[in-house]
Amino acid sequence: MTKPHALVIGASRGIGLGLVRELASRGWTVIGTARGLSKATELTALAAASGGAVRTAVVDTADAASAETLRDSLKDEVFDLVLVNAGVGGPQDMTTRTVSREAFTDLFVTNALAPVRLAELLVKTVKPQTGVIGLMTSMLGSVDGASAGGFELYRASKAALNSFTRSFAARHKDQGLAVLSLHPGWVKTDMGGANAPVSVEESTRGLVNVVERAQADRGDGFFDYTGATLPW
Ligand SMILES: NC(=O)c1ccc[n+]([C@@H]2O[C@H](COP(=O)([O-])OP(=O)(O)OC[C@H]3O[C@@H](n4cnc5c(N)ncnc54)[C@H](OP(=O)(O)O)[C@@H]3O)[C@@H](O)[C@H]2O)c1
Repeated sequence: MTKPHALVIGASRGIGLGLVRELASRGWTVIGTARGLSKATELTALAAASGGAVRTAVVDTADAASAETLRDSLKDEVFDLVLVNAGVGGPQDMTTRTVSREAFTDLFVTNALAPVRLAELLVKTVKPQTGVIGLMTSMLGSVDGASAGGFELYRASKAALNSFTRSFAARHKDQGLAVLSLHPGWVKTDMGGANAPVSVEESTRGLVNVVERAQADRGDGFFDYTGATLPW
């Protein structure tokens, strides 16, 4: 039987690297991307030791030309899963009053525009009717759930991503893809910090369970790593 095949975008470290490990441990073949392979030492070591199950590719998601080059290099792949994980925390000490146009633009291009642009560029490589596209968002992107202040720029960037994701899912409905907005939990990574309660291993085990469930039930939605549905 052919192994399921995945692309994880933003896999140099943190949750993305953990997703590559978890998928490979379940028998998937995986391509993990990094902005540059020289710094992605854990990913390249994982690929080198995998006997061909894990491969690497390069993309700076915020750069449209780089995203198109990735699309061209992957045009012959057939994926069961494309998961865009790359994201940034942005300028957390800034508010809507103090943020510069440049910092705001960088955050929104990376967190909101780039993931859906990649999904759009790669949609033809995903198996119709059985394939899954995952976009890594955050529960902080829930407009319904935004009852506390803080992280306002980051929240808005992920809310914009959620909106783009729903439009993308609606536009590609006839392809029968399952389109998932995924919240990984508050995870111990460079972004989540040392006090985060969830390990990369626990988060990625749960996220891959959610993906494998979607392969069978084909439901779109906003899910956390435990499989719970989150409010938009
Ligand atoms: N950790 C949490 O608690 C948490 C909670 C909710 C949501 N999330 C979301 O989960 C995702 C992963 O978070 P994480 O905690 O693993 O963060 P992380 O440790 O900071 O890792 C971020 C990853 O995104 C990549 N990336 C960022 N900008 C990129 C770009 N322009 N092009 C290509 N790759 C880029 C990074 O690559 P480089 O190594 O090249 O920088 C790295 O691989 C993000 O979308 C984040 O918003 C995280």
